[in-house]
Amino acid sequence: MAISRVGFIGLGIMGGPMAENLLKAGFTVTVWNRTPSRMEPLVAAGASPGLSPADVAAVSEVTISCVTNSPDVEAIALGPAGVMEGAPVGATYIDCSTIAPATARSVAEALAHHGVSMLDAPVSGGDIGAKAGTLAIMVGGESGPFERSLPVLQAMGKTIVHVGPSGSGQVVKLCNQVAGGLNLLAAAEAINLARRAGVDPAKMLEVVSAGAAGSWMLSNLAPRAVKGDYAPGFMVDLMQKDLRLVMDAANDSHTPLPGSALVYQLFQSIQAEGRGSDGTQSLIDAIAKLSG
Ligand SMILES: NC(=O)c1ccc[n+]([C@@H]2O[C@H](COP(=O)([O-])OP(=O)(O)OC[C@H]3O[C@@H](n4cnc5c(N)ncnc54)[C@H](OP(=O)(O)O)[C@@H]3O)[C@@H](O)[C@H]2O)c1
Repeated sequence: MAISRVGFIGLGIMGGPMAENLLKAGFTVTVWNRTPSRMEPLVAAGASPGLSPADVAAVSEVTISCVTNSPDVEAIALGPAGVMEGAPVGATYIDCSTIAPATARSVAEALAHHGVSMLDAPVSGGDIGAKAGTLAIMVGGESGPFERSLPVLQAMGKTIVHVGPSGSGQVVKLCNQVAGGLNLLAAAEAINLARRAGVDPAKMLEVVSAGAAGSWMLSNLAPRAVKGDYAPGFMVDLMQKDLRLVMDAANDSHTPLPGSALVYQLFQSIQAEGRGSDGTQSLIDAIAKLSG
């Protein structure tokens, strides 16, 4: 039978619009957020408010979370009043947060003992993709729950790929952050050179984005950087959380990642200025400061 009842935990920059797209696709949606006021727009749009992650999971065939980091997923999945306490046998839990692959595996194992399957399904595409329902979703876990949950994932994303067993989705997301971070650095350097060499960076972006150097970062974040719009999208603090996970994975697999290490250090300088809540397009300032 097709899935109709979906729960959503964590209604932040990403989770809010993802839950809204589930409502638009016709699912019966129950939501919970630690800060209750963030549930209001979803409830106004037709979602039911839950009292806790357990409460949400108790009425949902599929429960999704999009929270910050590994300990947060452990808390909402396995902690008091967590998903494990409420989810019925046979239910599926899908975590869309970016967390350590090892945590995704250990939470999946704990839930499996209670008859609940877990997919790690981190996302890419930013706040823009979350609102448009065009996220790229990289999924780790068993194929049965993946296939059953596909219509739910399709309401939030456009490119959905089952990349391997539990934890694999998170490994692929770390690869995404390596490529995304270096793309952003390339955009920041191009903007800085255009400015210093006397060319309008907006004109530079207009044509370069359409050529062989085009990228999502160049098309979506670089224009925000040029305008001096630092509102997040994706906060520097979250990017650094991800780059630390990248470095852990690199250490575990003895993989040198010199470019990612540089991006991490440049973001460190933005954090040192107390700007961790700015969007990642603020990397432009770290580069601009190198030229005085
Ligand atoms: N923003 C992006 O462009 C983007 C893109 C791809 C992936 N991601 C990933 O998606 C996840 C969410 O990012 P976001 O940008 O949506 O962040 P956000 O706006 O800061 O939202 C975080 C959400 O997690 C909740 N939360 C955090 N810790 C919690 C805990 N211990 N217990 C219960 N709820 C908790 C927050 O609740 P409160 O409202 O109470 O704080 C909030 O709803 C992160 O893992 C991030 O790396 C983000």
